[in-house]
Amino acid sequence: MTHAKPLAQYMQEVAQRVEMELDRLLPSGQTQPGIIHEAMRYSACNGGKRLRAMLTLEAAGLLHGNGEAALPLAAAIEMIHAYSLIHDDLPCMDDDDYRRGKPTNHKVFGEGIAVLAGDALLTQAFVVIGRLPELTGISAALTVQVLAEVATAIGSTGLVGGQVADLQAEGADPGDNAFAMLQYIHTHKTGALFRCSLRTGGLLGGLTPAQLVAVDEYAEQFGLAFQITDDVLDQIGSAEALGKAVGSDDRSRKLTYPRIFGLARSQQMAREAVEKAQTALEPFGSHAARLIELAQFIVERDH
Ligand code: IPE
Ligand code: IPE
Ligand code: MG
Ligand code: MG
Ligand code: MG
Repeated sequence: MTHAKPLAQYMQEVAQRVEMELDRLLPSGQTQPGIIHEAMRYSACNGGKRLRAMLTLEAAGLLHGNGEAALPLAAAIEMIHAYSLIHDDLPCMDDDDYRRGKPTNHKVFGEGIAVLAGDALLTQAFVVIGRLPELTGISAALTVQVLAEVATAIGSTGLVGGQVADLQAEGADPGDNAFAMLQYIHTHKTGALFRCSLRTGGLLGGLTPAQLVAVDEYAEQFGLAFQITDDVLDQIGSAEALGKAVGSDDRSRKLTYPRIFGLARSQQMAREAVEKAQTALEPFGSHAARLIELAQFIVERDH
């Protein structure tokens, strides 16, 4: 299906709605202690592509074409993403100074508040998920299912596990095991939250277990293509377009796709993953059109 709206306009409009929802669901900057709420808002309400939110909304609309009811969940997932970025940038992690075109949270608020702002965003996400019956009218049983999906995706066997492996692989000689390690890192530090965004959106949208399997395949390939491209952009992207430093991975001797496969092969692998992602959604017909476009976008993007 061709859309009346170009993808860029769609992305801008969804991002705006997500920002308004974040504004509504986060304590105001005047709420005591003011500094922590300012720090949370500094990182959660300051732009970003809002891809995870888009995936949640689109997955929620796969059956009936409108997933807007999933907006509070989409905002909660963006809170989790913002937490992961604040912590990822800390001096004890990737030690980065810029994010989304601005100084990183710890550069503005100090490391102590940055750690706590991350903790509090993560916690606030679960406050919102706990309130989903009241906010969106979904059942308590479905809410518990969403809660379990999210918690599992981001814990020590999900996102956090991936971040651990990413740190442990830093500087290590990529031996025979390099590809398996790289796959673990990418599917966990990045893939798990994308997958959870799609699956929980799909759960809210009433997808059957068989339909969720198709969404899972899209999610896995999307996550892979996304993180390969993130690695590629760290080498050949522009800091201005990305809003974050380039060359950060090489400086920290990270285990990345370009390091193991080189740039051209990595880009090829990302394109192959996108094709697989797109094929997986064929059964959904026109309701999957934006998800298909978004998969293309992530390998063609410059930010
Ligand atoms: C950056 O994610 C962190 C990674 C998982 C590589 P995004 O590129 O989606 O960041 P924002 O939200 O658009 O800033
Ligand atoms: C970040 O991966 C993954 C998480 C925040 C969980 P990267 O370290 O590659 O992300 P960037 O490049 O700093 O955005
Ligand atoms: Mg990192
Ligand atoms: Mg980083
Ligand atoms: Mg990166």
